[in-house]
Formats: sequence, structure tokens, C-alpha cells
Amino acid sequence: MSTEANPLREGMPDERTVKPTAFVIFGASGDLTRRKLLPAVYNLASSRLLPGSFALVGVARRPKPDFADEMREAVSKYSRRKPLDEATWSDLGKGIRYVQGDFNDPATYARLAEDLGRLEKERGTQNRVFYLSVAPTEVPAIVKGLCDAKLVVPHSLDADAPYQRVVVEKPFGEDLASARALNRELLACLDERQIYRIDHYLGKETVQNLLVFRFGNTIFEPLWSRQHVSQVQITVAEEIGIEGRGKFYDKVGITRDIVQNHALQILTMMAMEPPSSWDADAVRDEKVKVLRALRPIRGREVLDRTVRAQYAAGAVRGDRVSGYREEPDVDPRSMTETFVAMSLRLDSFRWGGVPFYLRSGKRLAKRCAEVALHFKPLPHRLFRDAAGSTDEPNVLVVRIQPDEGIALRFATKVPGGSMAMRNVAMDFRYGTAFGSSTPEAYERLILDAMRGDATLFTRADEVEAQWGFIDPILNGWREHEAPMASYESGSWGPREADKLLVAGDTWRRP
Ligand code: BG6
Repeated sequence: MSTEANPLREGMPDERTVKPTAFVIFGASGDLTRRKLLPAVYNLASSRLLPGSFALVGVARRPKPDFADEMREAVSKYSRRKPLDEATWSDLGKGIRYVQGDFNDPATYARLAEDLGRLEKERGTQNRVFYLSVAPTEVPAIVKGLCDAKLVVPHSLDADAPYQRVVVEKPFGEDLASARALNRELLACLDERQIYRIDHYLGKETVQNLLVFRFGNTIFEPLWSRQHVSQVQITVAEEIGIEGRGKFYDKVGITRDIVQNHALQILTMMAMEPPSSWDADAVRDEKVKVLRALRPIRGREVLDRTVRAQYAAGAVRGDRVSGYREEPDVDPRSMTETFVAMSLRLDSFRWGGVPFYLRSGKRLAKRCAEVALHFKPLPHRLFRDAAGSTDEPNVLVVRIQPDEGIALRFATKVPGGSMAMRNVAMDFRYGTAFGSSTPEAYERLILDAMRGDATLFTRADEVEAQWGFIDPILNGWREHEAPMASYESGSWGPREADKLLVAGDTWRRP
């Protein structure tokens, strides 16, 4: 069923007004542009969500005389809508330009200014979004180049003045010190309201739905606390390995690549207090409070509250795969983790005493991102003697991906003359309810950047609070030579992760 034809959507306005915009991608020759950004822009065009006047300019060092053709090919391959609609592409293609140049060279910005000026005359695209899909070390030079060339001017409070916004891809720095330095450099010439730090998990429908589920219903929120919840498990598992990104990955590891951003974002949405409004700062204030309530894991505590590991050879979906240290461009003695598990605590009235178990890994048994709330056991087991009776708790699982949905496990009576019980699941599936063509995270985020809505982007203090929690763990591992466990590819991670659990708890098998 197409989303457009979905009866559950009837009466819901889908149109958003976006001002005429030039969308400029720095790092346009990279993988993200091909796989995610261009397909997202094309899908926005297909959904008629782009402004009538729109232009796209790629900037990168490599010469790309056939940029528009390459992008057409990428969209045909990676777009969620297939086949490519020629009319939509032809409209979009007319506004595509490419500027070749070094990010440190003022001449690059002069050429970009000329192109943008021409586009503005031809297409009326006086507003600009600069999307920096580059390494964090390249961001300061680009922002300086943009500001020196007056392509970005100070933020105006006049809502009718043309806008310039800068979207910064992750990773945002590589530790707290570099993230702070990056924030300082950005804020030296931009206003926080012009900066959009991306974490694409926030663009995922199901991550946003965590807030609708919690704060758009009356029945769940009263259960959402230490009074009723005994433990929370957050899993971000991937089947894929490092996909030829050895050079990058071996310097980064899963804690910086996934936990510092995606997993902590899921945690904040899951644990935050209700904001007073759906306003960027109201929402982000509450998220920052969660990050600040995270009990730090420092020094030797890393040995008891975290486990790091690397994948060894194994089989994923029947295919033999090699171990991490055998991957191309990975140091054969590498101490970079591809799996991490942590036992976290939130020092707050709502969550005091509830273990938050978090794990993330590459080459695990199944691709799966989810949050599972385990509810407290019954105070008295009335049906202890019934056939099939167990002391398994009620569990509420929010499936972020794949198979997006929400399931509640509870006990029922098995029909028949005797008292027999079985656990069943009440299961809501996005795919069935709303059709399968859910917009991709990047579609929502690009649209929001053009609309000036920063709710789903990370604020400066937020990203610093994330690093503030992660830094001591990375330092603790180094200083205390934390062991590097190993797990078979295609498994659910190392056995050592079990030692993090409170007696009686077990890791879920999603
Ligand atoms: C990226 C990481 O941010 O997220 C990748 O750099 C990871 O290593 C990817 O594979 C996962 O994103 P998704 O949307 O496929 O879950």
C-alpha cells in the first residue's frame, strides 16, 4: 500500500511550506551524498515537499564534470521509490550544479558565490542550507570560508530576511575537547540558531514516535518510571561489519560511532521528562537533563560496568565472514571495539535504581534497534500452579528498526477447561498500519533544516554532554587496560556482557 493511498492518513496535512532554497553539499563526492542525501532530496521532490524554487550545488575537491548524471544514477539505485520518475528528476536536475575546489582556498567560495548568485537570479533561491558532509577536522575551514565570503551572514531576527543555515554531519568531534573546540569555532561566526548538528537516528519515524507514544497517550506514561519498570534494555545491533571502512573505523570504534550519538539519543527520548511544548529548546532542555543525570563511569568502574569486544570470524546469514582484525586497513593488533555493552544508571527521581542496559555491536545475529521496558514482577502469583505459568515479566518493546512497531507481552489464559497460561504479544506494526513507504530519516531532517526546525538536531550543550559521558569510559579503558573480549560473528556478542546484569536479568534475544 502506498503511503499516499493510506486511509489512516486521511485528513492529515502533509504539505509544509519551505522557502525557496539553495541546498549546498560540501563533500558531494562522498558516499553519504550518493546513498542518502540525493535520494532524500529526490524523495522530497516526489512528495512535493520541496519549495517550487530549489537548487542543489555539490562542492568537493575532485573534478566531476558529470555530477548530475552520477547523482541520477545514485538516486535510481538508492531511492526508496523505484523506478526513477523522469519528470521529477528532470525538474530537479535543472537546478543541479557542481563546484570543484579545495575547502581551504578562498577561490572555492568565490566560485560558489558566483554560482549561488546566478541561481538566485534564475530561480529565486536566496535562502541557503550548507550541508557539511565532511570530516570534523574540515568543518572549521569551511565555516570560515563561508563567513569570509559573506555566504553566511549574522542571524537575523526578521523572519522575512533570507536565511543561511549550516548542517554538520556526525561525528561531531572525536572527544569532549574537540567537540568543544568545534562548537567554539562554529559559534565564532554563526548563531546557534543557524547550526543543525545531525544525528540521523532522530529523523527515524520510530525514534520520534517514542515521544508520541509516551506523551500523546494517557495510559503509558504513568507506568514509565521506577515504580513499575524493573530494567530497560537498549539495543542497536547490526549484521554488517565495517564495510570496507577500516581506515576510518579503526580510529573510531563503536562507542564513538554509535553509542555517543545514536544510542544516547534513543536513551534520552526514552527517559526524558515531558517537555512543556514541542519546541526545539523545550525538547532539547529535557534531553540534556537526562544526559546530565547519567551516572558517570570513571576510572576502574569501566571494568565492572562496561564490556568491550571485537568480532571474530563466523557466519552471518549463512555466509562466512572474517574477524575484525583480518579486515582490510585494520591493524592486526587493533584495540578498537566493534561491540560495547554498558550498565547505566540515571540519578533521577523517575529512574533512580533502574538498570539501563545498553549494547551495540557490528556483525551481530540480527539487525535490530529497539528499546525494551521490563516491568516489575507480580507482587503475588495467583496462578502459580497453572500450566504454562512463568515469572516472566510484562515487556514493552519499541522496535525502531527493522519491522518498526510496538509490542506488549502479557499473559493470557489458554482457552479450555483447565487453567493454563501463555505469554502473547499485542503487536502494532507500522508497515501494516501505514504502508511500507516510510520516509527515510534524511528526508525529514533535510526538510526540517530548510523549515528552520531544530527540534530533531543536537544542540551544542547536548553534544558536549554526550561526550562528557563517553570520554571517561574511553579513558578508563586505556588507563586500566580493559580487556578486549571476542565474539563470534553472527552471535549476540561476548559472554562477558552477562556479568553486567543484575542477578536474574538476562539480555534479550530480539
Ligand atoms: C552511522 C554509522 O552513523 O550509522 C555506521 O557511522 C552505522 O557505522 C550506521 O552502520 C547505522 O545507521 P542505520 O540507519 O543503518 O541504523
